[in-house]
Amino acid sequence: MRDIRLNHIVQKVNDMPVLPSRVNRIIELIEDPNSTIDDLEKEILMDQSLTSKILKLANSAYYGYPRKINTVSQATILLGFQTIKSIVLASTVSKMMAHELKGYALGENDLWTQSQTCAIISRNIAKEIKISNPETAYIGGLLRDIGKTILSYYVEREYNAIVNKVEFGNISFLEAEEEILGFNHAQVGEKIAEKWNFPEDLVEAIGLHHTPEKSIINPTLVSIVHIADAITMMLGVGIGVDGLAYNFSPFALETLNLSSIDVEDLISKSHDLIIDRDSFDLI
Ligand SMILES: [Fe+2]
Repeated sequence: MRDIRLNHIVQKVNDMPVLPSRVNRIIELIEDPNSTIDDLEKEILMDQSLTSKILKLANSAYYGYPRKINTVSQATILLGFQTIKSIVLASTVSKMMAHELKGYALGENDLWTQSQTCAIISRNIAKEIKISNPETAYIGGLLRDIGKTILSYYVEREYNAIVNKVEFGNISFLEAEEEILGFNHAQVGEKIAEKWNFPEDLVEAIGLHHTPEKSIINPTLVSIVHIADAITMMLGVGIGVDGLAYNFSPFALETLNLSSIDVEDLISKSHDLIIDRDSFDLI
């Protein structure tokens, strides 16, 4: 029975849509030092819905530009190539994250709002500790729970068994997922990120966002996403059934050299950053 389910989950990951080829082309252009803003704008403009989502996000309260951004090239100049990459990815995955996930008690749009929140908090932590590309942290935060979109169905069916394990087996929700279903949501997310050809440090950050102490490739990035995840849950943004089950890992705090005062400071800054949740509403 368990083996059949394991195979089903692997199959579901295989069936996950690949990133649209236009999105891959846009990412390639962004990473190519020889490409120009015109090249990028041309590619983006070919997709009307992507264009309007980029402009909507670029004009959201979060980015806080006083003038209205009317064109993709203006958005690119103001926000930079790497931020445009984040916005393109966010607008692409927003649809995948919009559905209700009954297994995790997440209502419609909850996962999306929560992921966007975690992404913004991740980026902020990355900026505070001055890592070279804060947008990588944004993308890690955005996608860390994408595995829930696949696992929810199985969690729903095995909900009682999982909760029983948590209550009587004295293990975390994540461990119970793994024990009962064969995978936890972070491992499923890791497989999706691999399928999308993400760089290996991002794959690791998604896969280990609840167990940063296992990190080998980029402990700093994993720790940022982990702390941002815990703050997101603490702020109570669409937390769902396992939301309060996760704490700050001492490993992550040490890796980022954060004292308890620093953490308090990050929490209050995060609160200010996400105050206008309507600005995330892309769907
Ligand atoms: Fe998670």
